[in-house]
Amino acid sequence: MNILVLGGGGREHALAWAIKQNPKCDRLIVAPGNAGIATLAECAAIDPCDTAAVLACVEENAIDFVVVGPEAPLAAGVADRLRAAGILTFGPSAEAARLEASKAFTKEICDACGAPTAGYARFTDLAAAKAYVTEQGAPIVVKADGLAAGKGVIVAMTLDEALAGLDEIFGGAFGDAGAEVVIEEFMEGEEASFFILSDGVNVLPVGTAQDHKRVGDGDTGPNTGGMGAYSPAPVLTPAIQADVMDQIVRPTVAEMARRGTPFQGVLYAGLMIKDGKARLVEYNVRFGDPECQVLMLRLGAQALDLLLACAEGRLDQVRAQWADDHALTVVMAANGYPGAYEKGTPIKGLDALPEDSFNMVFHAGTAARDGQIVATGGRVLNVTARGDTLAEAQARAYAMVDRIDWPQGFCRRDIGWRAL
Ligand code: AMP
Ligand code: GLY
Repeated sequence: MNILVLGGGGREHALAWAIKQNPKCDRLIVAPGNAGIATLAECAAIDPCDTAAVLACVEENAIDFVVVGPEAPLAAGVADRLRAAGILTFGPSAEAARLEASKAFTKEICDACGAPTAGYARFTDLAAAKAYVTEQGAPIVVKADGLAAGKGVIVAMTLDEALAGLDEIFGGAFGDAGAEVVIEEFMEGEEASFFILSDGVNVLPVGTAQDHKRVGDGDTGPNTGGMGAYSPAPVLTPAIQADVMDQIVRPTVAEMARRGTPFQGVLYAGLMIKDGKARLVEYNVRFGDPECQVLMLRLGAQALDLLLACAEGRLDQVRAQWADDHALTVVMAANGYPGAYEKGTPIKGLDALPEDSFNMVFHAGTAARDGQIVATGGRVLNVTARGDTLAEAQARAYAMVDRIDWPQGFCRRDIGWRAL
């Protein structure tokens, strides 16, 4: 079959890598892709949110199946338009994507289905929000309702930070995404991510992972899109996973179906675990980046069969076959990230690295220029490895990092510390 993957980051490189290994895949196009993706698929210079261009690409290339990587095209209704055109598509409708695109909507669903989450209140008025925060006191969490590229959440340890956060959001720092705020109880505990496929009715867990959000070693410095991840996440024990499925995931999927907006795609549940109990922090409606990279390295070719079963509504007939293994990915970012950074710097040494089912460098922000690979983004490479133990996966990943010659890049040296 001919397959189109929408997106051009490390997540999409990992998806393309797994899909390409499955004999069902005849032709693979990734839009827009990147320099790493170009080594295993055709890249099409298309904006994934440009529905007309995506539909034209599907028609021209007789695409049978579309996998949507990022949240923006989902929130923009690209999956709806593809399905309306009769194209088999992996990814939720715009209505169902509100589970990520509106934090207030997610709270509404949690209330309706009884899923455990942080207590909260919603505001569209600055003065009322300030009065509430002042009455509640710190620590407290202030969130812009809409999509804000991961920047619309202020975990305020002091009242002043919370009030400043409200000024920022209502002052328009996040545009329309900040027209409403959700103010939440601060939850303590250990965070982990749980990935579940849903075909609208049936659900299938496809792995757990832990991200490293802060830029610096020891979880210091500002928040980022994620500086590294590993899978599985030992904190999500089988018993906690079973509770999360029963108390959070199945009730959510049932409530979405009851409303006539079934969720089809991957549900990424961000969880806070304390004393053996998990509460929902947030939902995302796509694979995590870089969490997808470790999941795909562990799933390999079967990933395509699972994505197809999800899109075709037959998740009850498939099962994920897990090896008893571990995967870990280290993000290499441009110096200065998540602040200002230089673009176009050359990266050397990639050709000499192993590329197999145990070692993969997934590209996030790269381009090929004059026969060289250059950095084009903040997060640039995802150096990923698998092993029988997490320590082995970590040692393999850092051994590859140390062979990459990129003076203008950096990485955290402690990915995996919490589990090791
Ligand atoms: P979100 O974009 O909702 O995932 O929030 C970003 C990060 O803020 C999360 O990954 C958590 O680390 C933190 N966070 C969000 N909500 C809460 C909460 N209610 N209590 C504690 N930390 C939170
Ligand atoms: N790594 C966090 C995310 O994908 O949202």
